[in-house]
Amino acid sequence: MTNPLFKTKSLASLQEEAADTKGLKRQLGGVNLVMLGIGAIIGAGLFSLTGLAAANNAGPAVTISFVVAATGCAFAGLCYAEFASMIPIAGSAYTYSYATMGEFMAWIIGWDLVLEYAVGAATVAISWSQYLTKFLAYYNIHIPVAFSHSPWETVTMADGTVASGMINLPAVFIVILLSLLLIRGTRESAMFNGVIVVLKVAVVLVFIILGYNYINPANYTPYIPENTGNYGEFGWSGVVRGAAVVFFAFIGFDAVSTAAQEAKNPQRNMPIGILGSLIVCTILYVLFSYVMTGVANYKEFAGSAAPVAVAIQKMGYPWLQQLIIMAILAGYSSVILVMLMGQSRVFFSMSKDGLLPKVFSEVHPKYSTPYKSNLMFMIFVSLFAAFVPVTVVGEMTSIGTLFAFVLVCIGVIIMRRTLPHATRSFKTPLVPLIPALGVGTCLYMMASLPFDTWLRLIIWMVLGVVIYFVYSKKHSVLNRKERV
Ligand code: ALA
Repeated sequence: MTNPLFKTKSLASLQEEAADTKGLKRQLGGVNLVMLGIGAIIGAGLFSLTGLAAANNAGPAVTISFVVAATGCAFAGLCYAEFASMIPIAGSAYTYSYATMGEFMAWIIGWDLVLEYAVGAATVAISWSQYLTKFLAYYNIHIPVAFSHSPWETVTMADGTVASGMINLPAVFIVILLSLLLIRGTRESAMFNGVIVVLKVAVVLVFIILGYNYINPANYTPYIPENTGNYGEFGWSGVVRGAAVVFFAFIGFDAVSTAAQEAKNPQRNMPIGILGSLIVCTILYVLFSYVMTGVANYKEFAGSAAPVAVAIQKMGYPWLQQLIIMAILAGYSSVILVMLMGQSRVFFSMSKDGLLPKVFSEVHPKYSTPYKSNLMFMIFVSLFAAFVPVTVVGEMTSIGTLFAFVLVCIGVIIMRRTLPHATRSFKTPLVPLIPALGVGTCLYMMASLPFDTWLRLIIWMVLGVVIYFVYSKKHSVLNRKERV
């Protein structure tokens, strides 16, 4: 008998679950899924980190950093697409690991995904709060520092005094608002997301088109500034370090796979949603960063919390400034929405498997959404958003996501060996080369994250292992089936 820790769920039982019509409804088409992906992808990464990566790491070659990060994500995206079309269940990487590496690894990855989705939602909620503060200040409405920052943050005021944060209330507000929308319904949430995505993409395009005429070619010389002597500060090492920084901007394409159980014809539409959104965003990112570093010199972005504003000032369109901040605020909400949705769907699957209490898979009788889970995550994410600084949650999101990508890539290699003849409506090309390159790129980006972040990942995982042995192993449906 297989050790329960390594017992895998059979593909047949997973496909049976996918066909179950009692829980979540299949109502999202290919376009909805691409929109869902773009909704989750374009956010704080593009509007805040592009400037930072240009100023500190890559200069104008931040465009190349985007291409490098996109290539790493594309390797992982191809693996996600194979799995999502084969096993169209809400659990995403968690379910894929259950089918390939056994229950324990599946638990580990499901637990890890909390970092990507729940902590990721908190990260973007905090950035949302920063932009809201900026937006309101324009109209002379000032939110006190104590109520818009975590207790670990201080802000130096115009008169030189230092104010300390206490609780980030705007961040909590947006998390609550979007959680309530999620409970109201998946279709409503997808519609809200669709409207925002159109707005967000329109503003990015307006920036690219208007900005193109203001490019000063001198800003591109040298395109890759000379390395300062320190690793990661310009030169090629800077381009690669820049890729690890802007990686955050791509997080979210995999969230499409958590909607697999709500997709119509997932065999066809899952790969379209995952790869389509990744391709659209990569093109937009490269163009956006090209224009941004062409309009203003990369050195001018140093220390700026709103680098896009620096570039717009050069163009002289004051109306664009407020419009862009408004689109950024709306745009961030769709990122938070999809992340919160992804989180509840992963826990939905884990709860169905008995690894988490039933409450996480209870579906609202009228709205067909896992409302209790949404409410619990509303509280959990609000706590992070209220009391933790943005850099801490941001790096935890990146490390957690990269770890999930690594396991999904390994999973594809394993699945090809264990189930070589299973029907795959989408096949990752050149296996094992592409998944191996995915593992390598993601590990490389993980390695560039600070030690503290690794430590937090380890602590989170140790907590997960304890919960697994105390609760999940005993309640696992798969293990119970074995015992009777
Ligand atoms: N990719 C998402 C963002 O940049 C997480 O906000």
